[in-house]
Amino acid sequence: MSASTALRLDRVRKDYGSTTAVQELNLEVAAGTLVALLGPSGCGKTTTLRMVAGFETPTSGRVLIGDQDVTPLPPNRRNLGMVFQNYSLFPHRTVAENIAFGLRMAGRSRAEQEVAVTRMLDLVRLEGRGDMYPRQLSGGQQQRVALARSLVLNPRVLLLDEPLGALDKALRESMQFEIRETQQRLGITTLLVTHDQEEAMTMSDQIAVMNGGRVLQLGAPTEIYDRPKTRFVAEFLGTSNIFTGRAESTGREIIADGMVITLPETVPVGSEVCLSIRPERVRIGPEADGLANRIQGHLSGAVFRGAYAAYHLDIGPDRRQLFAYQQSHGPHGTLRYGAGVDCWLGWATEDSVIVTVD
Ligand SMILES: Nc1ncnc2c1ncn2[C@@H]1O[C@H](COP(=O)(O)OP(=O)(O)OP(=O)(O)O)[C@@H](O)[C@H]1O
Ligand SMILES: [Mg+2]
Repeated sequence: MSASTALRLDRVRKDYGSTTAVQELNLEVAAGTLVALLGPSGCGKTTTLRMVAGFETPTSGRVLIGDQDVTPLPPNRRNLGMVFQNYSLFPHRTVAENIAFGLRMAGRSRAEQEVAVTRMLDLVRLEGRGDMYPRQLSGGQQQRVALARSLVLNPRVLLLDEPLGALDKALRESMQFEIRETQQRLGITTLLVTHDQEEAMTMSDQIAVMNGGRVLQLGAPTEIYDRPKTRFVAEFLGTSNIFTGRAESTGREIIADGMVITLPETVPVGSEVCLSIRPERVRIGPEADGLANRIQGHLSGAVFRGAYAAYHLDIGPDRRQLFAYQQSHGPHGTLRYGAGVDCWLGWATEDSVIVTVD
């Protein structure tokens, strides 16, 4: 284990009867970083987090915090902070009392509690609201109190399970920046559970994409997005155009959807290849001229999405639909093309990525 690893899951597994929720999962979280567990519903994110917290006992494997094996320890002996989707504040206690709760339990003096509460209110930008009750606060403010309450004890690791899931989109986005900023300022090691890819991209140093109780890929957001290793990752994080086919003659091309596609690397002849191309890499109209991979398609849809325009293009004998995104240009993001016409589309070979099928 590297010296800077603050949290480590070592072949952690969880079975519920015949259901395996988490399979031999390995994960290392470097000190001071935020790692997101990102994946679809039921993939084992919460179960993983609960094993770190101590609410679930792994069927096998170990949880290490620093170099301490905490697997046998109950939650209250792990010194972790936790925030869940439903704020779970004490409704009949004031904001200050909620924040001070852990300190009071630990037998800290009243004066010490007051200093800490003021500091925490400041941290989460709720100065002067210590005497209010949770019901008098907005959802976002309540979640900041929950964050303050979990940070007041200087936990070794902060665990967040869909902390913003109950908030509306605009508030969620601003809270993502806010929590991330706080996390970085404090340098607190954090494990975040989310099924929201934008949230994971906004907040994380590293994303662990999960499916079926496994981590399929761990990497920085840009790495996961630009170099997905598997088809699942390519399609779960963002949108991908997928082509599949058998490698021909030189191992450098496949035939799919009635076109010859050049591969970005050589593969064994005859092997099944799956290729992912991001919609923003697909060029259309005259921009596709001269590209190695080019086909004529039918533009069946053009959708204005603010920062970009999304084009739907049907290609090949099966009229399979592809996506091409183009930045919006000109006044009010005028769509450059309208639906119902035929046009060329293509991509540069280096803009495609070979992925494995999982
Ligand atoms: N206490 C339990 N008893 C039996 N099965 C469970 C239990 N907790 C979780 N599971 C199962 O384990 C799997 C993983 O569940 P988990 O709650 O970890 O998923 P998740 O990734 O957090 O999903 P979501 O995004 O919906 O919260 C699911 O198939 C779930 O049904
Ligand atoms: Mg969950």
